[in-house]
Amino acid sequence: MQQLCNDLGQMMSSAPHSTTVQMRSLPGNHSRAYLDRQQLRESNARSYPRRIPMAIREAKGIFVTDVDGNVYFDCLAGAGTLALGHNHPAVIEAMQQTLTGNYPLHTLDLTTPIKDRFVEELFASLPENFAKRAKIQFCGPTGADAVEAALKLVKTATGRRSVLSFSGGYHGMSHGALSLTGNIAPKSAVPGLMADVHFLPYPYDYRCPFGVGGDNGHKISSRYIEYLLEDPESGIVPPAGMILEVVQGEGGVIPAPDAWLQEMRRITSERDIPLIVDEIQTGWGRTGNLYAFERSGITPDVLLLSKAIGGSLPLSVVLYDEKLDLWKPGAHAGTFRGNQLAMAAGTATLKYIMENQLVDSVKVLGDRLMQNLQQIQGNHPCIGDVRGRGLMVGVEIVNPHGGKTAYPELARKIQKACLERGLILELGGRFGTVVRFLPPLIITADQIDAISEIFAQAVEAVN
Ligand SMILES: Cc1ncc(COP(=O)(O)O)c(C=O)c1O
Repeated sequence: MQQLCNDLGQMMSSAPHSTTVQMRSLPGNHSRAYLDRQQLRESNARSYPRRIPMAIREAKGIFVTDVDGNVYFDCLAGAGTLALGHNHPAVIEAMQQTLTGNYPLHTLDLTTPIKDRFVEELFASLPENFAKRAKIQFCGPTGADAVEAALKLVKTATGRRSVLSFSGGYHGMSHGALSLTGNIAPKSAVPGLMADVHFLPYPYDYRCPFGVGGDNGHKISSRYIEYLLEDPESGIVPPAGMILEVVQGEGGVIPAPDAWLQEMRRITSERDIPLIVDEIQTGWGRTGNLYAFERSGITPDVLLLSKAIGGSLPLSVVLYDEKLDLWKPGAHAGTFRGNQLAMAAGTATLKYIMENQLVDSVKVLGDRLMQNLQQIQGNHPCIGDVRGRGLMVGVEIVNPHGGKTAYPELARKIQKACLERGLILELGGRFGTVVRFLPPLIITADQIDAISEIFAQAVEAVN
């Protein structure tokens, strides 16, 4: 494995000047056998294997190797979960110490030294004005569990029932979380989702809902939202909360302007509407800030974290202003809230991010990736937009002859062409036409150039 990784790393480290990239025919024979069995037994809802047809045998850092011996750059990284990549030594060491130290692995919500340390480190990482008033609720293991808990929290605290969410928002697949999610496809088959969710226009500059874009676009959005909340005939009863992502991830890598976020904070504060910031994907450095909301200077009432915080293991938490803590004992529970291994791995991840100033390097590396991709855009009119923050970057594929018409077929071809050249990327956004780069935060500058080169060659090939 190490040799294979070295080979790919060396091959690609000179990639900006290289012309040949080794091709893979996918799936390989060994992967095919696994995929056939998977198809036989696993539900029709399975999704990634349809676009990334492989069985993974080994993983280290940014690389994964399939059972046929093909090595890939993994720029999906567990949908943004693997902040330090696969099997980072600091994370593995923390897990090993936990496993060999006779520590409890499962503790419900009872406290332990491992949990205590995780909470201390987590609180120390938060902006002081948020941390000093914050309470924490450990949830079931997934991001959606944190979303569900937050819904109950704000409804209990306010006694209100309606919730404000945003078009393009993604908050998970459980019943309540799906109700808050914009994507209609997974919702339309499920009758009776949570009522009283109102979708508001998110400032999507490239496809401005108001047809103007720029500063005017986001100003109209906030003006419209404030108007709705003032209008006694808007149809929206006073909301229990507003939930938003600072950078919409699954919705197509859409960063919200700071000024718009500040307006959302003002509008909600003035009306005592708790603002829930979902940083399940952006939390812990992904966007070039430890927490994406910090850039705009706002302070949320509720902060949702998962993915990176478990150091590759499942863990999710809700952090919230103590004024909302009107829960009675046992008001929220769940068996798997005490995953000690995940807390140890999470603490090690956070310490590594802080001690190695990864947040700063994410900014630099993210800029490099954006610049590389913008250069590629210059040669390929099918790339309509390149956008993102830090190491959360999206490339929107459009019909080169049709203005900004989404071109999901071409996006899928580009994704496949990247995979055949050893680069795992995922698609997202409206119509699945945004190619997403979510590499681990430990990616190097050479690797940024290498993945850019593979992407360039893939776009060239399908064009
Ligand atoms: C912003 C955001 N919220 C919530 C979720 C749901 O997390 P999970 O898939 O762990 O339930 C995701 C998952 O991608 C996400 O990106």
